[in-house]
Amino acid sequence: MIIEPIISGVVARSAHPIGCQQSVLNQINYVQQAKPITATGPKKVLILGASSGFGLASRIALAFGGAQADTIGVSFERGPSDKGVGTAGWYNNIYFKQQAEKAGLIAKNFVGDAFSPALREQVVDYINREFGGKVDLVIYSLATGVRPDPQTNELWRSVIKTTGEPFTGHMVSLETDEFMPMTLETATNDEIEATVKVMGGEDWQSWINVLAKADVLAQGCKTFAYSYIGPEQTYPIYHYGTLGRAKAHLHQTAQQLDQQLTEIGGSAHVAVCKALVTKASVFIPTFSPYILALYKVMKAKGTHEGCIEQMQRLYADKVYNVNQVEVDANGLIRVDDWELAADVQAEVRQLMAQMDASNYAQIGDYQGYKTEFMQLNGFELVGVDYQQDIDINELAKLQP
Ligand code: NAI
Repeated sequence: MIIEPIISGVVARSAHPIGCQQSVLNQINYVQQAKPITATGPKKVLILGASSGFGLASRIALAFGGAQADTIGVSFERGPSDKGVGTAGWYNNIYFKQQAEKAGLIAKNFVGDAFSPALREQVVDYINREFGGKVDLVIYSLATGVRPDPQTNELWRSVIKTTGEPFTGHMVSLETDEFMPMTLETATNDEIEATVKVMGGEDWQSWINVLAKADVLAQGCKTFAYSYIGPEQTYPIYHYGTLGRAKAHLHQTAQQLDQQLTEIGGSAHVAVCKALVTKASVFIPTFSPYILALYKVMKAKGTHEGCIEQMQRLYADKVYNVNQVEVDANGLIRVDDWELAADVQAEVRQLMAQMDASNYAQIGDYQGYKTEFMQLNGFELVGVDYQQDIDINELAKLQP
């Protein structure tokens, strides 16, 4: 069959396996030529949320960008079935593993619900039996809308809303390419609480507790989670919104974990990253005009980075080639430094002030935004023959 992109709203309903393979190869190629993470960097890494976005980029950087780490990746993805070809993350897992194994590295994938106790047990068991008994780095990069309460199994559902006054902005539909007005409503206290439960630090803490109790954290083990803050003009959408509340909780959790891990000479940090197009971020209402303007400005200045550039720079420049993890006054690692540069933000504000439904694609980098979104799902990659007939039965034989 010929696989076509299917988009509804801001969600991709199909993925191109060969394109996903190409995207993994492109990312490997990038880190192999970038400033390397030291060879004395981490060797045994567990990545929660490893199949796309920042988690996948972290995995690729740590395996191929100098440290040559063995990795365990946990993700929630779907393979091919009568319902469709499967998700991009499913194929990313498969093709990452193929390449890692070719390079002599271990790449184990667990596809399932990272919140479930059963999956945690399987991961611990695998570390003990086949992964040398310890991990020296744990990356927490889950992005999701739901988390079951471990006590009752009832689901907490995160919402993306503001706090304080409702915020009116615009949104671009990736399905129809329309620039539409949109209002972000004010969250209730219950909604804020639920979002903190889903996207805050509680589950990160719980994973580290499980791993510590099972004694599978190596001496000096580090752990990282990813966050976003952004410039003031996006505060109503993110920093002062429900997501920002969840991230504040994540930042507090890092401090607690950092204390806790001193026992084994380890540490915990949050890395604040740049706004980027990922499966998770396109979902944030009223955020796209900012990304369109940001891409335009940063590309013109030559400072634009994608997930892979961000993660390679994080681990090569701020974490492993330095005596001490490089942090700001609040203990946060800042790889959003280039995004927040004063000259970048001044130009972004100017562009956003001019942006409307008639000109957003010229004023902002809509082309770049959309191409990145398509590429996340394996489409529009250079060098891939999209007219090639894909045999789904053959694909179904590939297992992550
Ligand atoms: P993404 O959607 O590309 O990746 C999320 C990952 O979580 C995937 O591997 C997915 O399979 C996995 N996942 C989701 N639910 C799961 C479950 N129940 N069990 C197992 N795996 C599950 O998201 P992205 O954007 O890479 O986000 C990762 C982190 O980076 C988040 O904390 C996000 O807030 C943060 N971040 C994102 C920014 C952006 O602009 N995209 C900017 C700064 C931080």
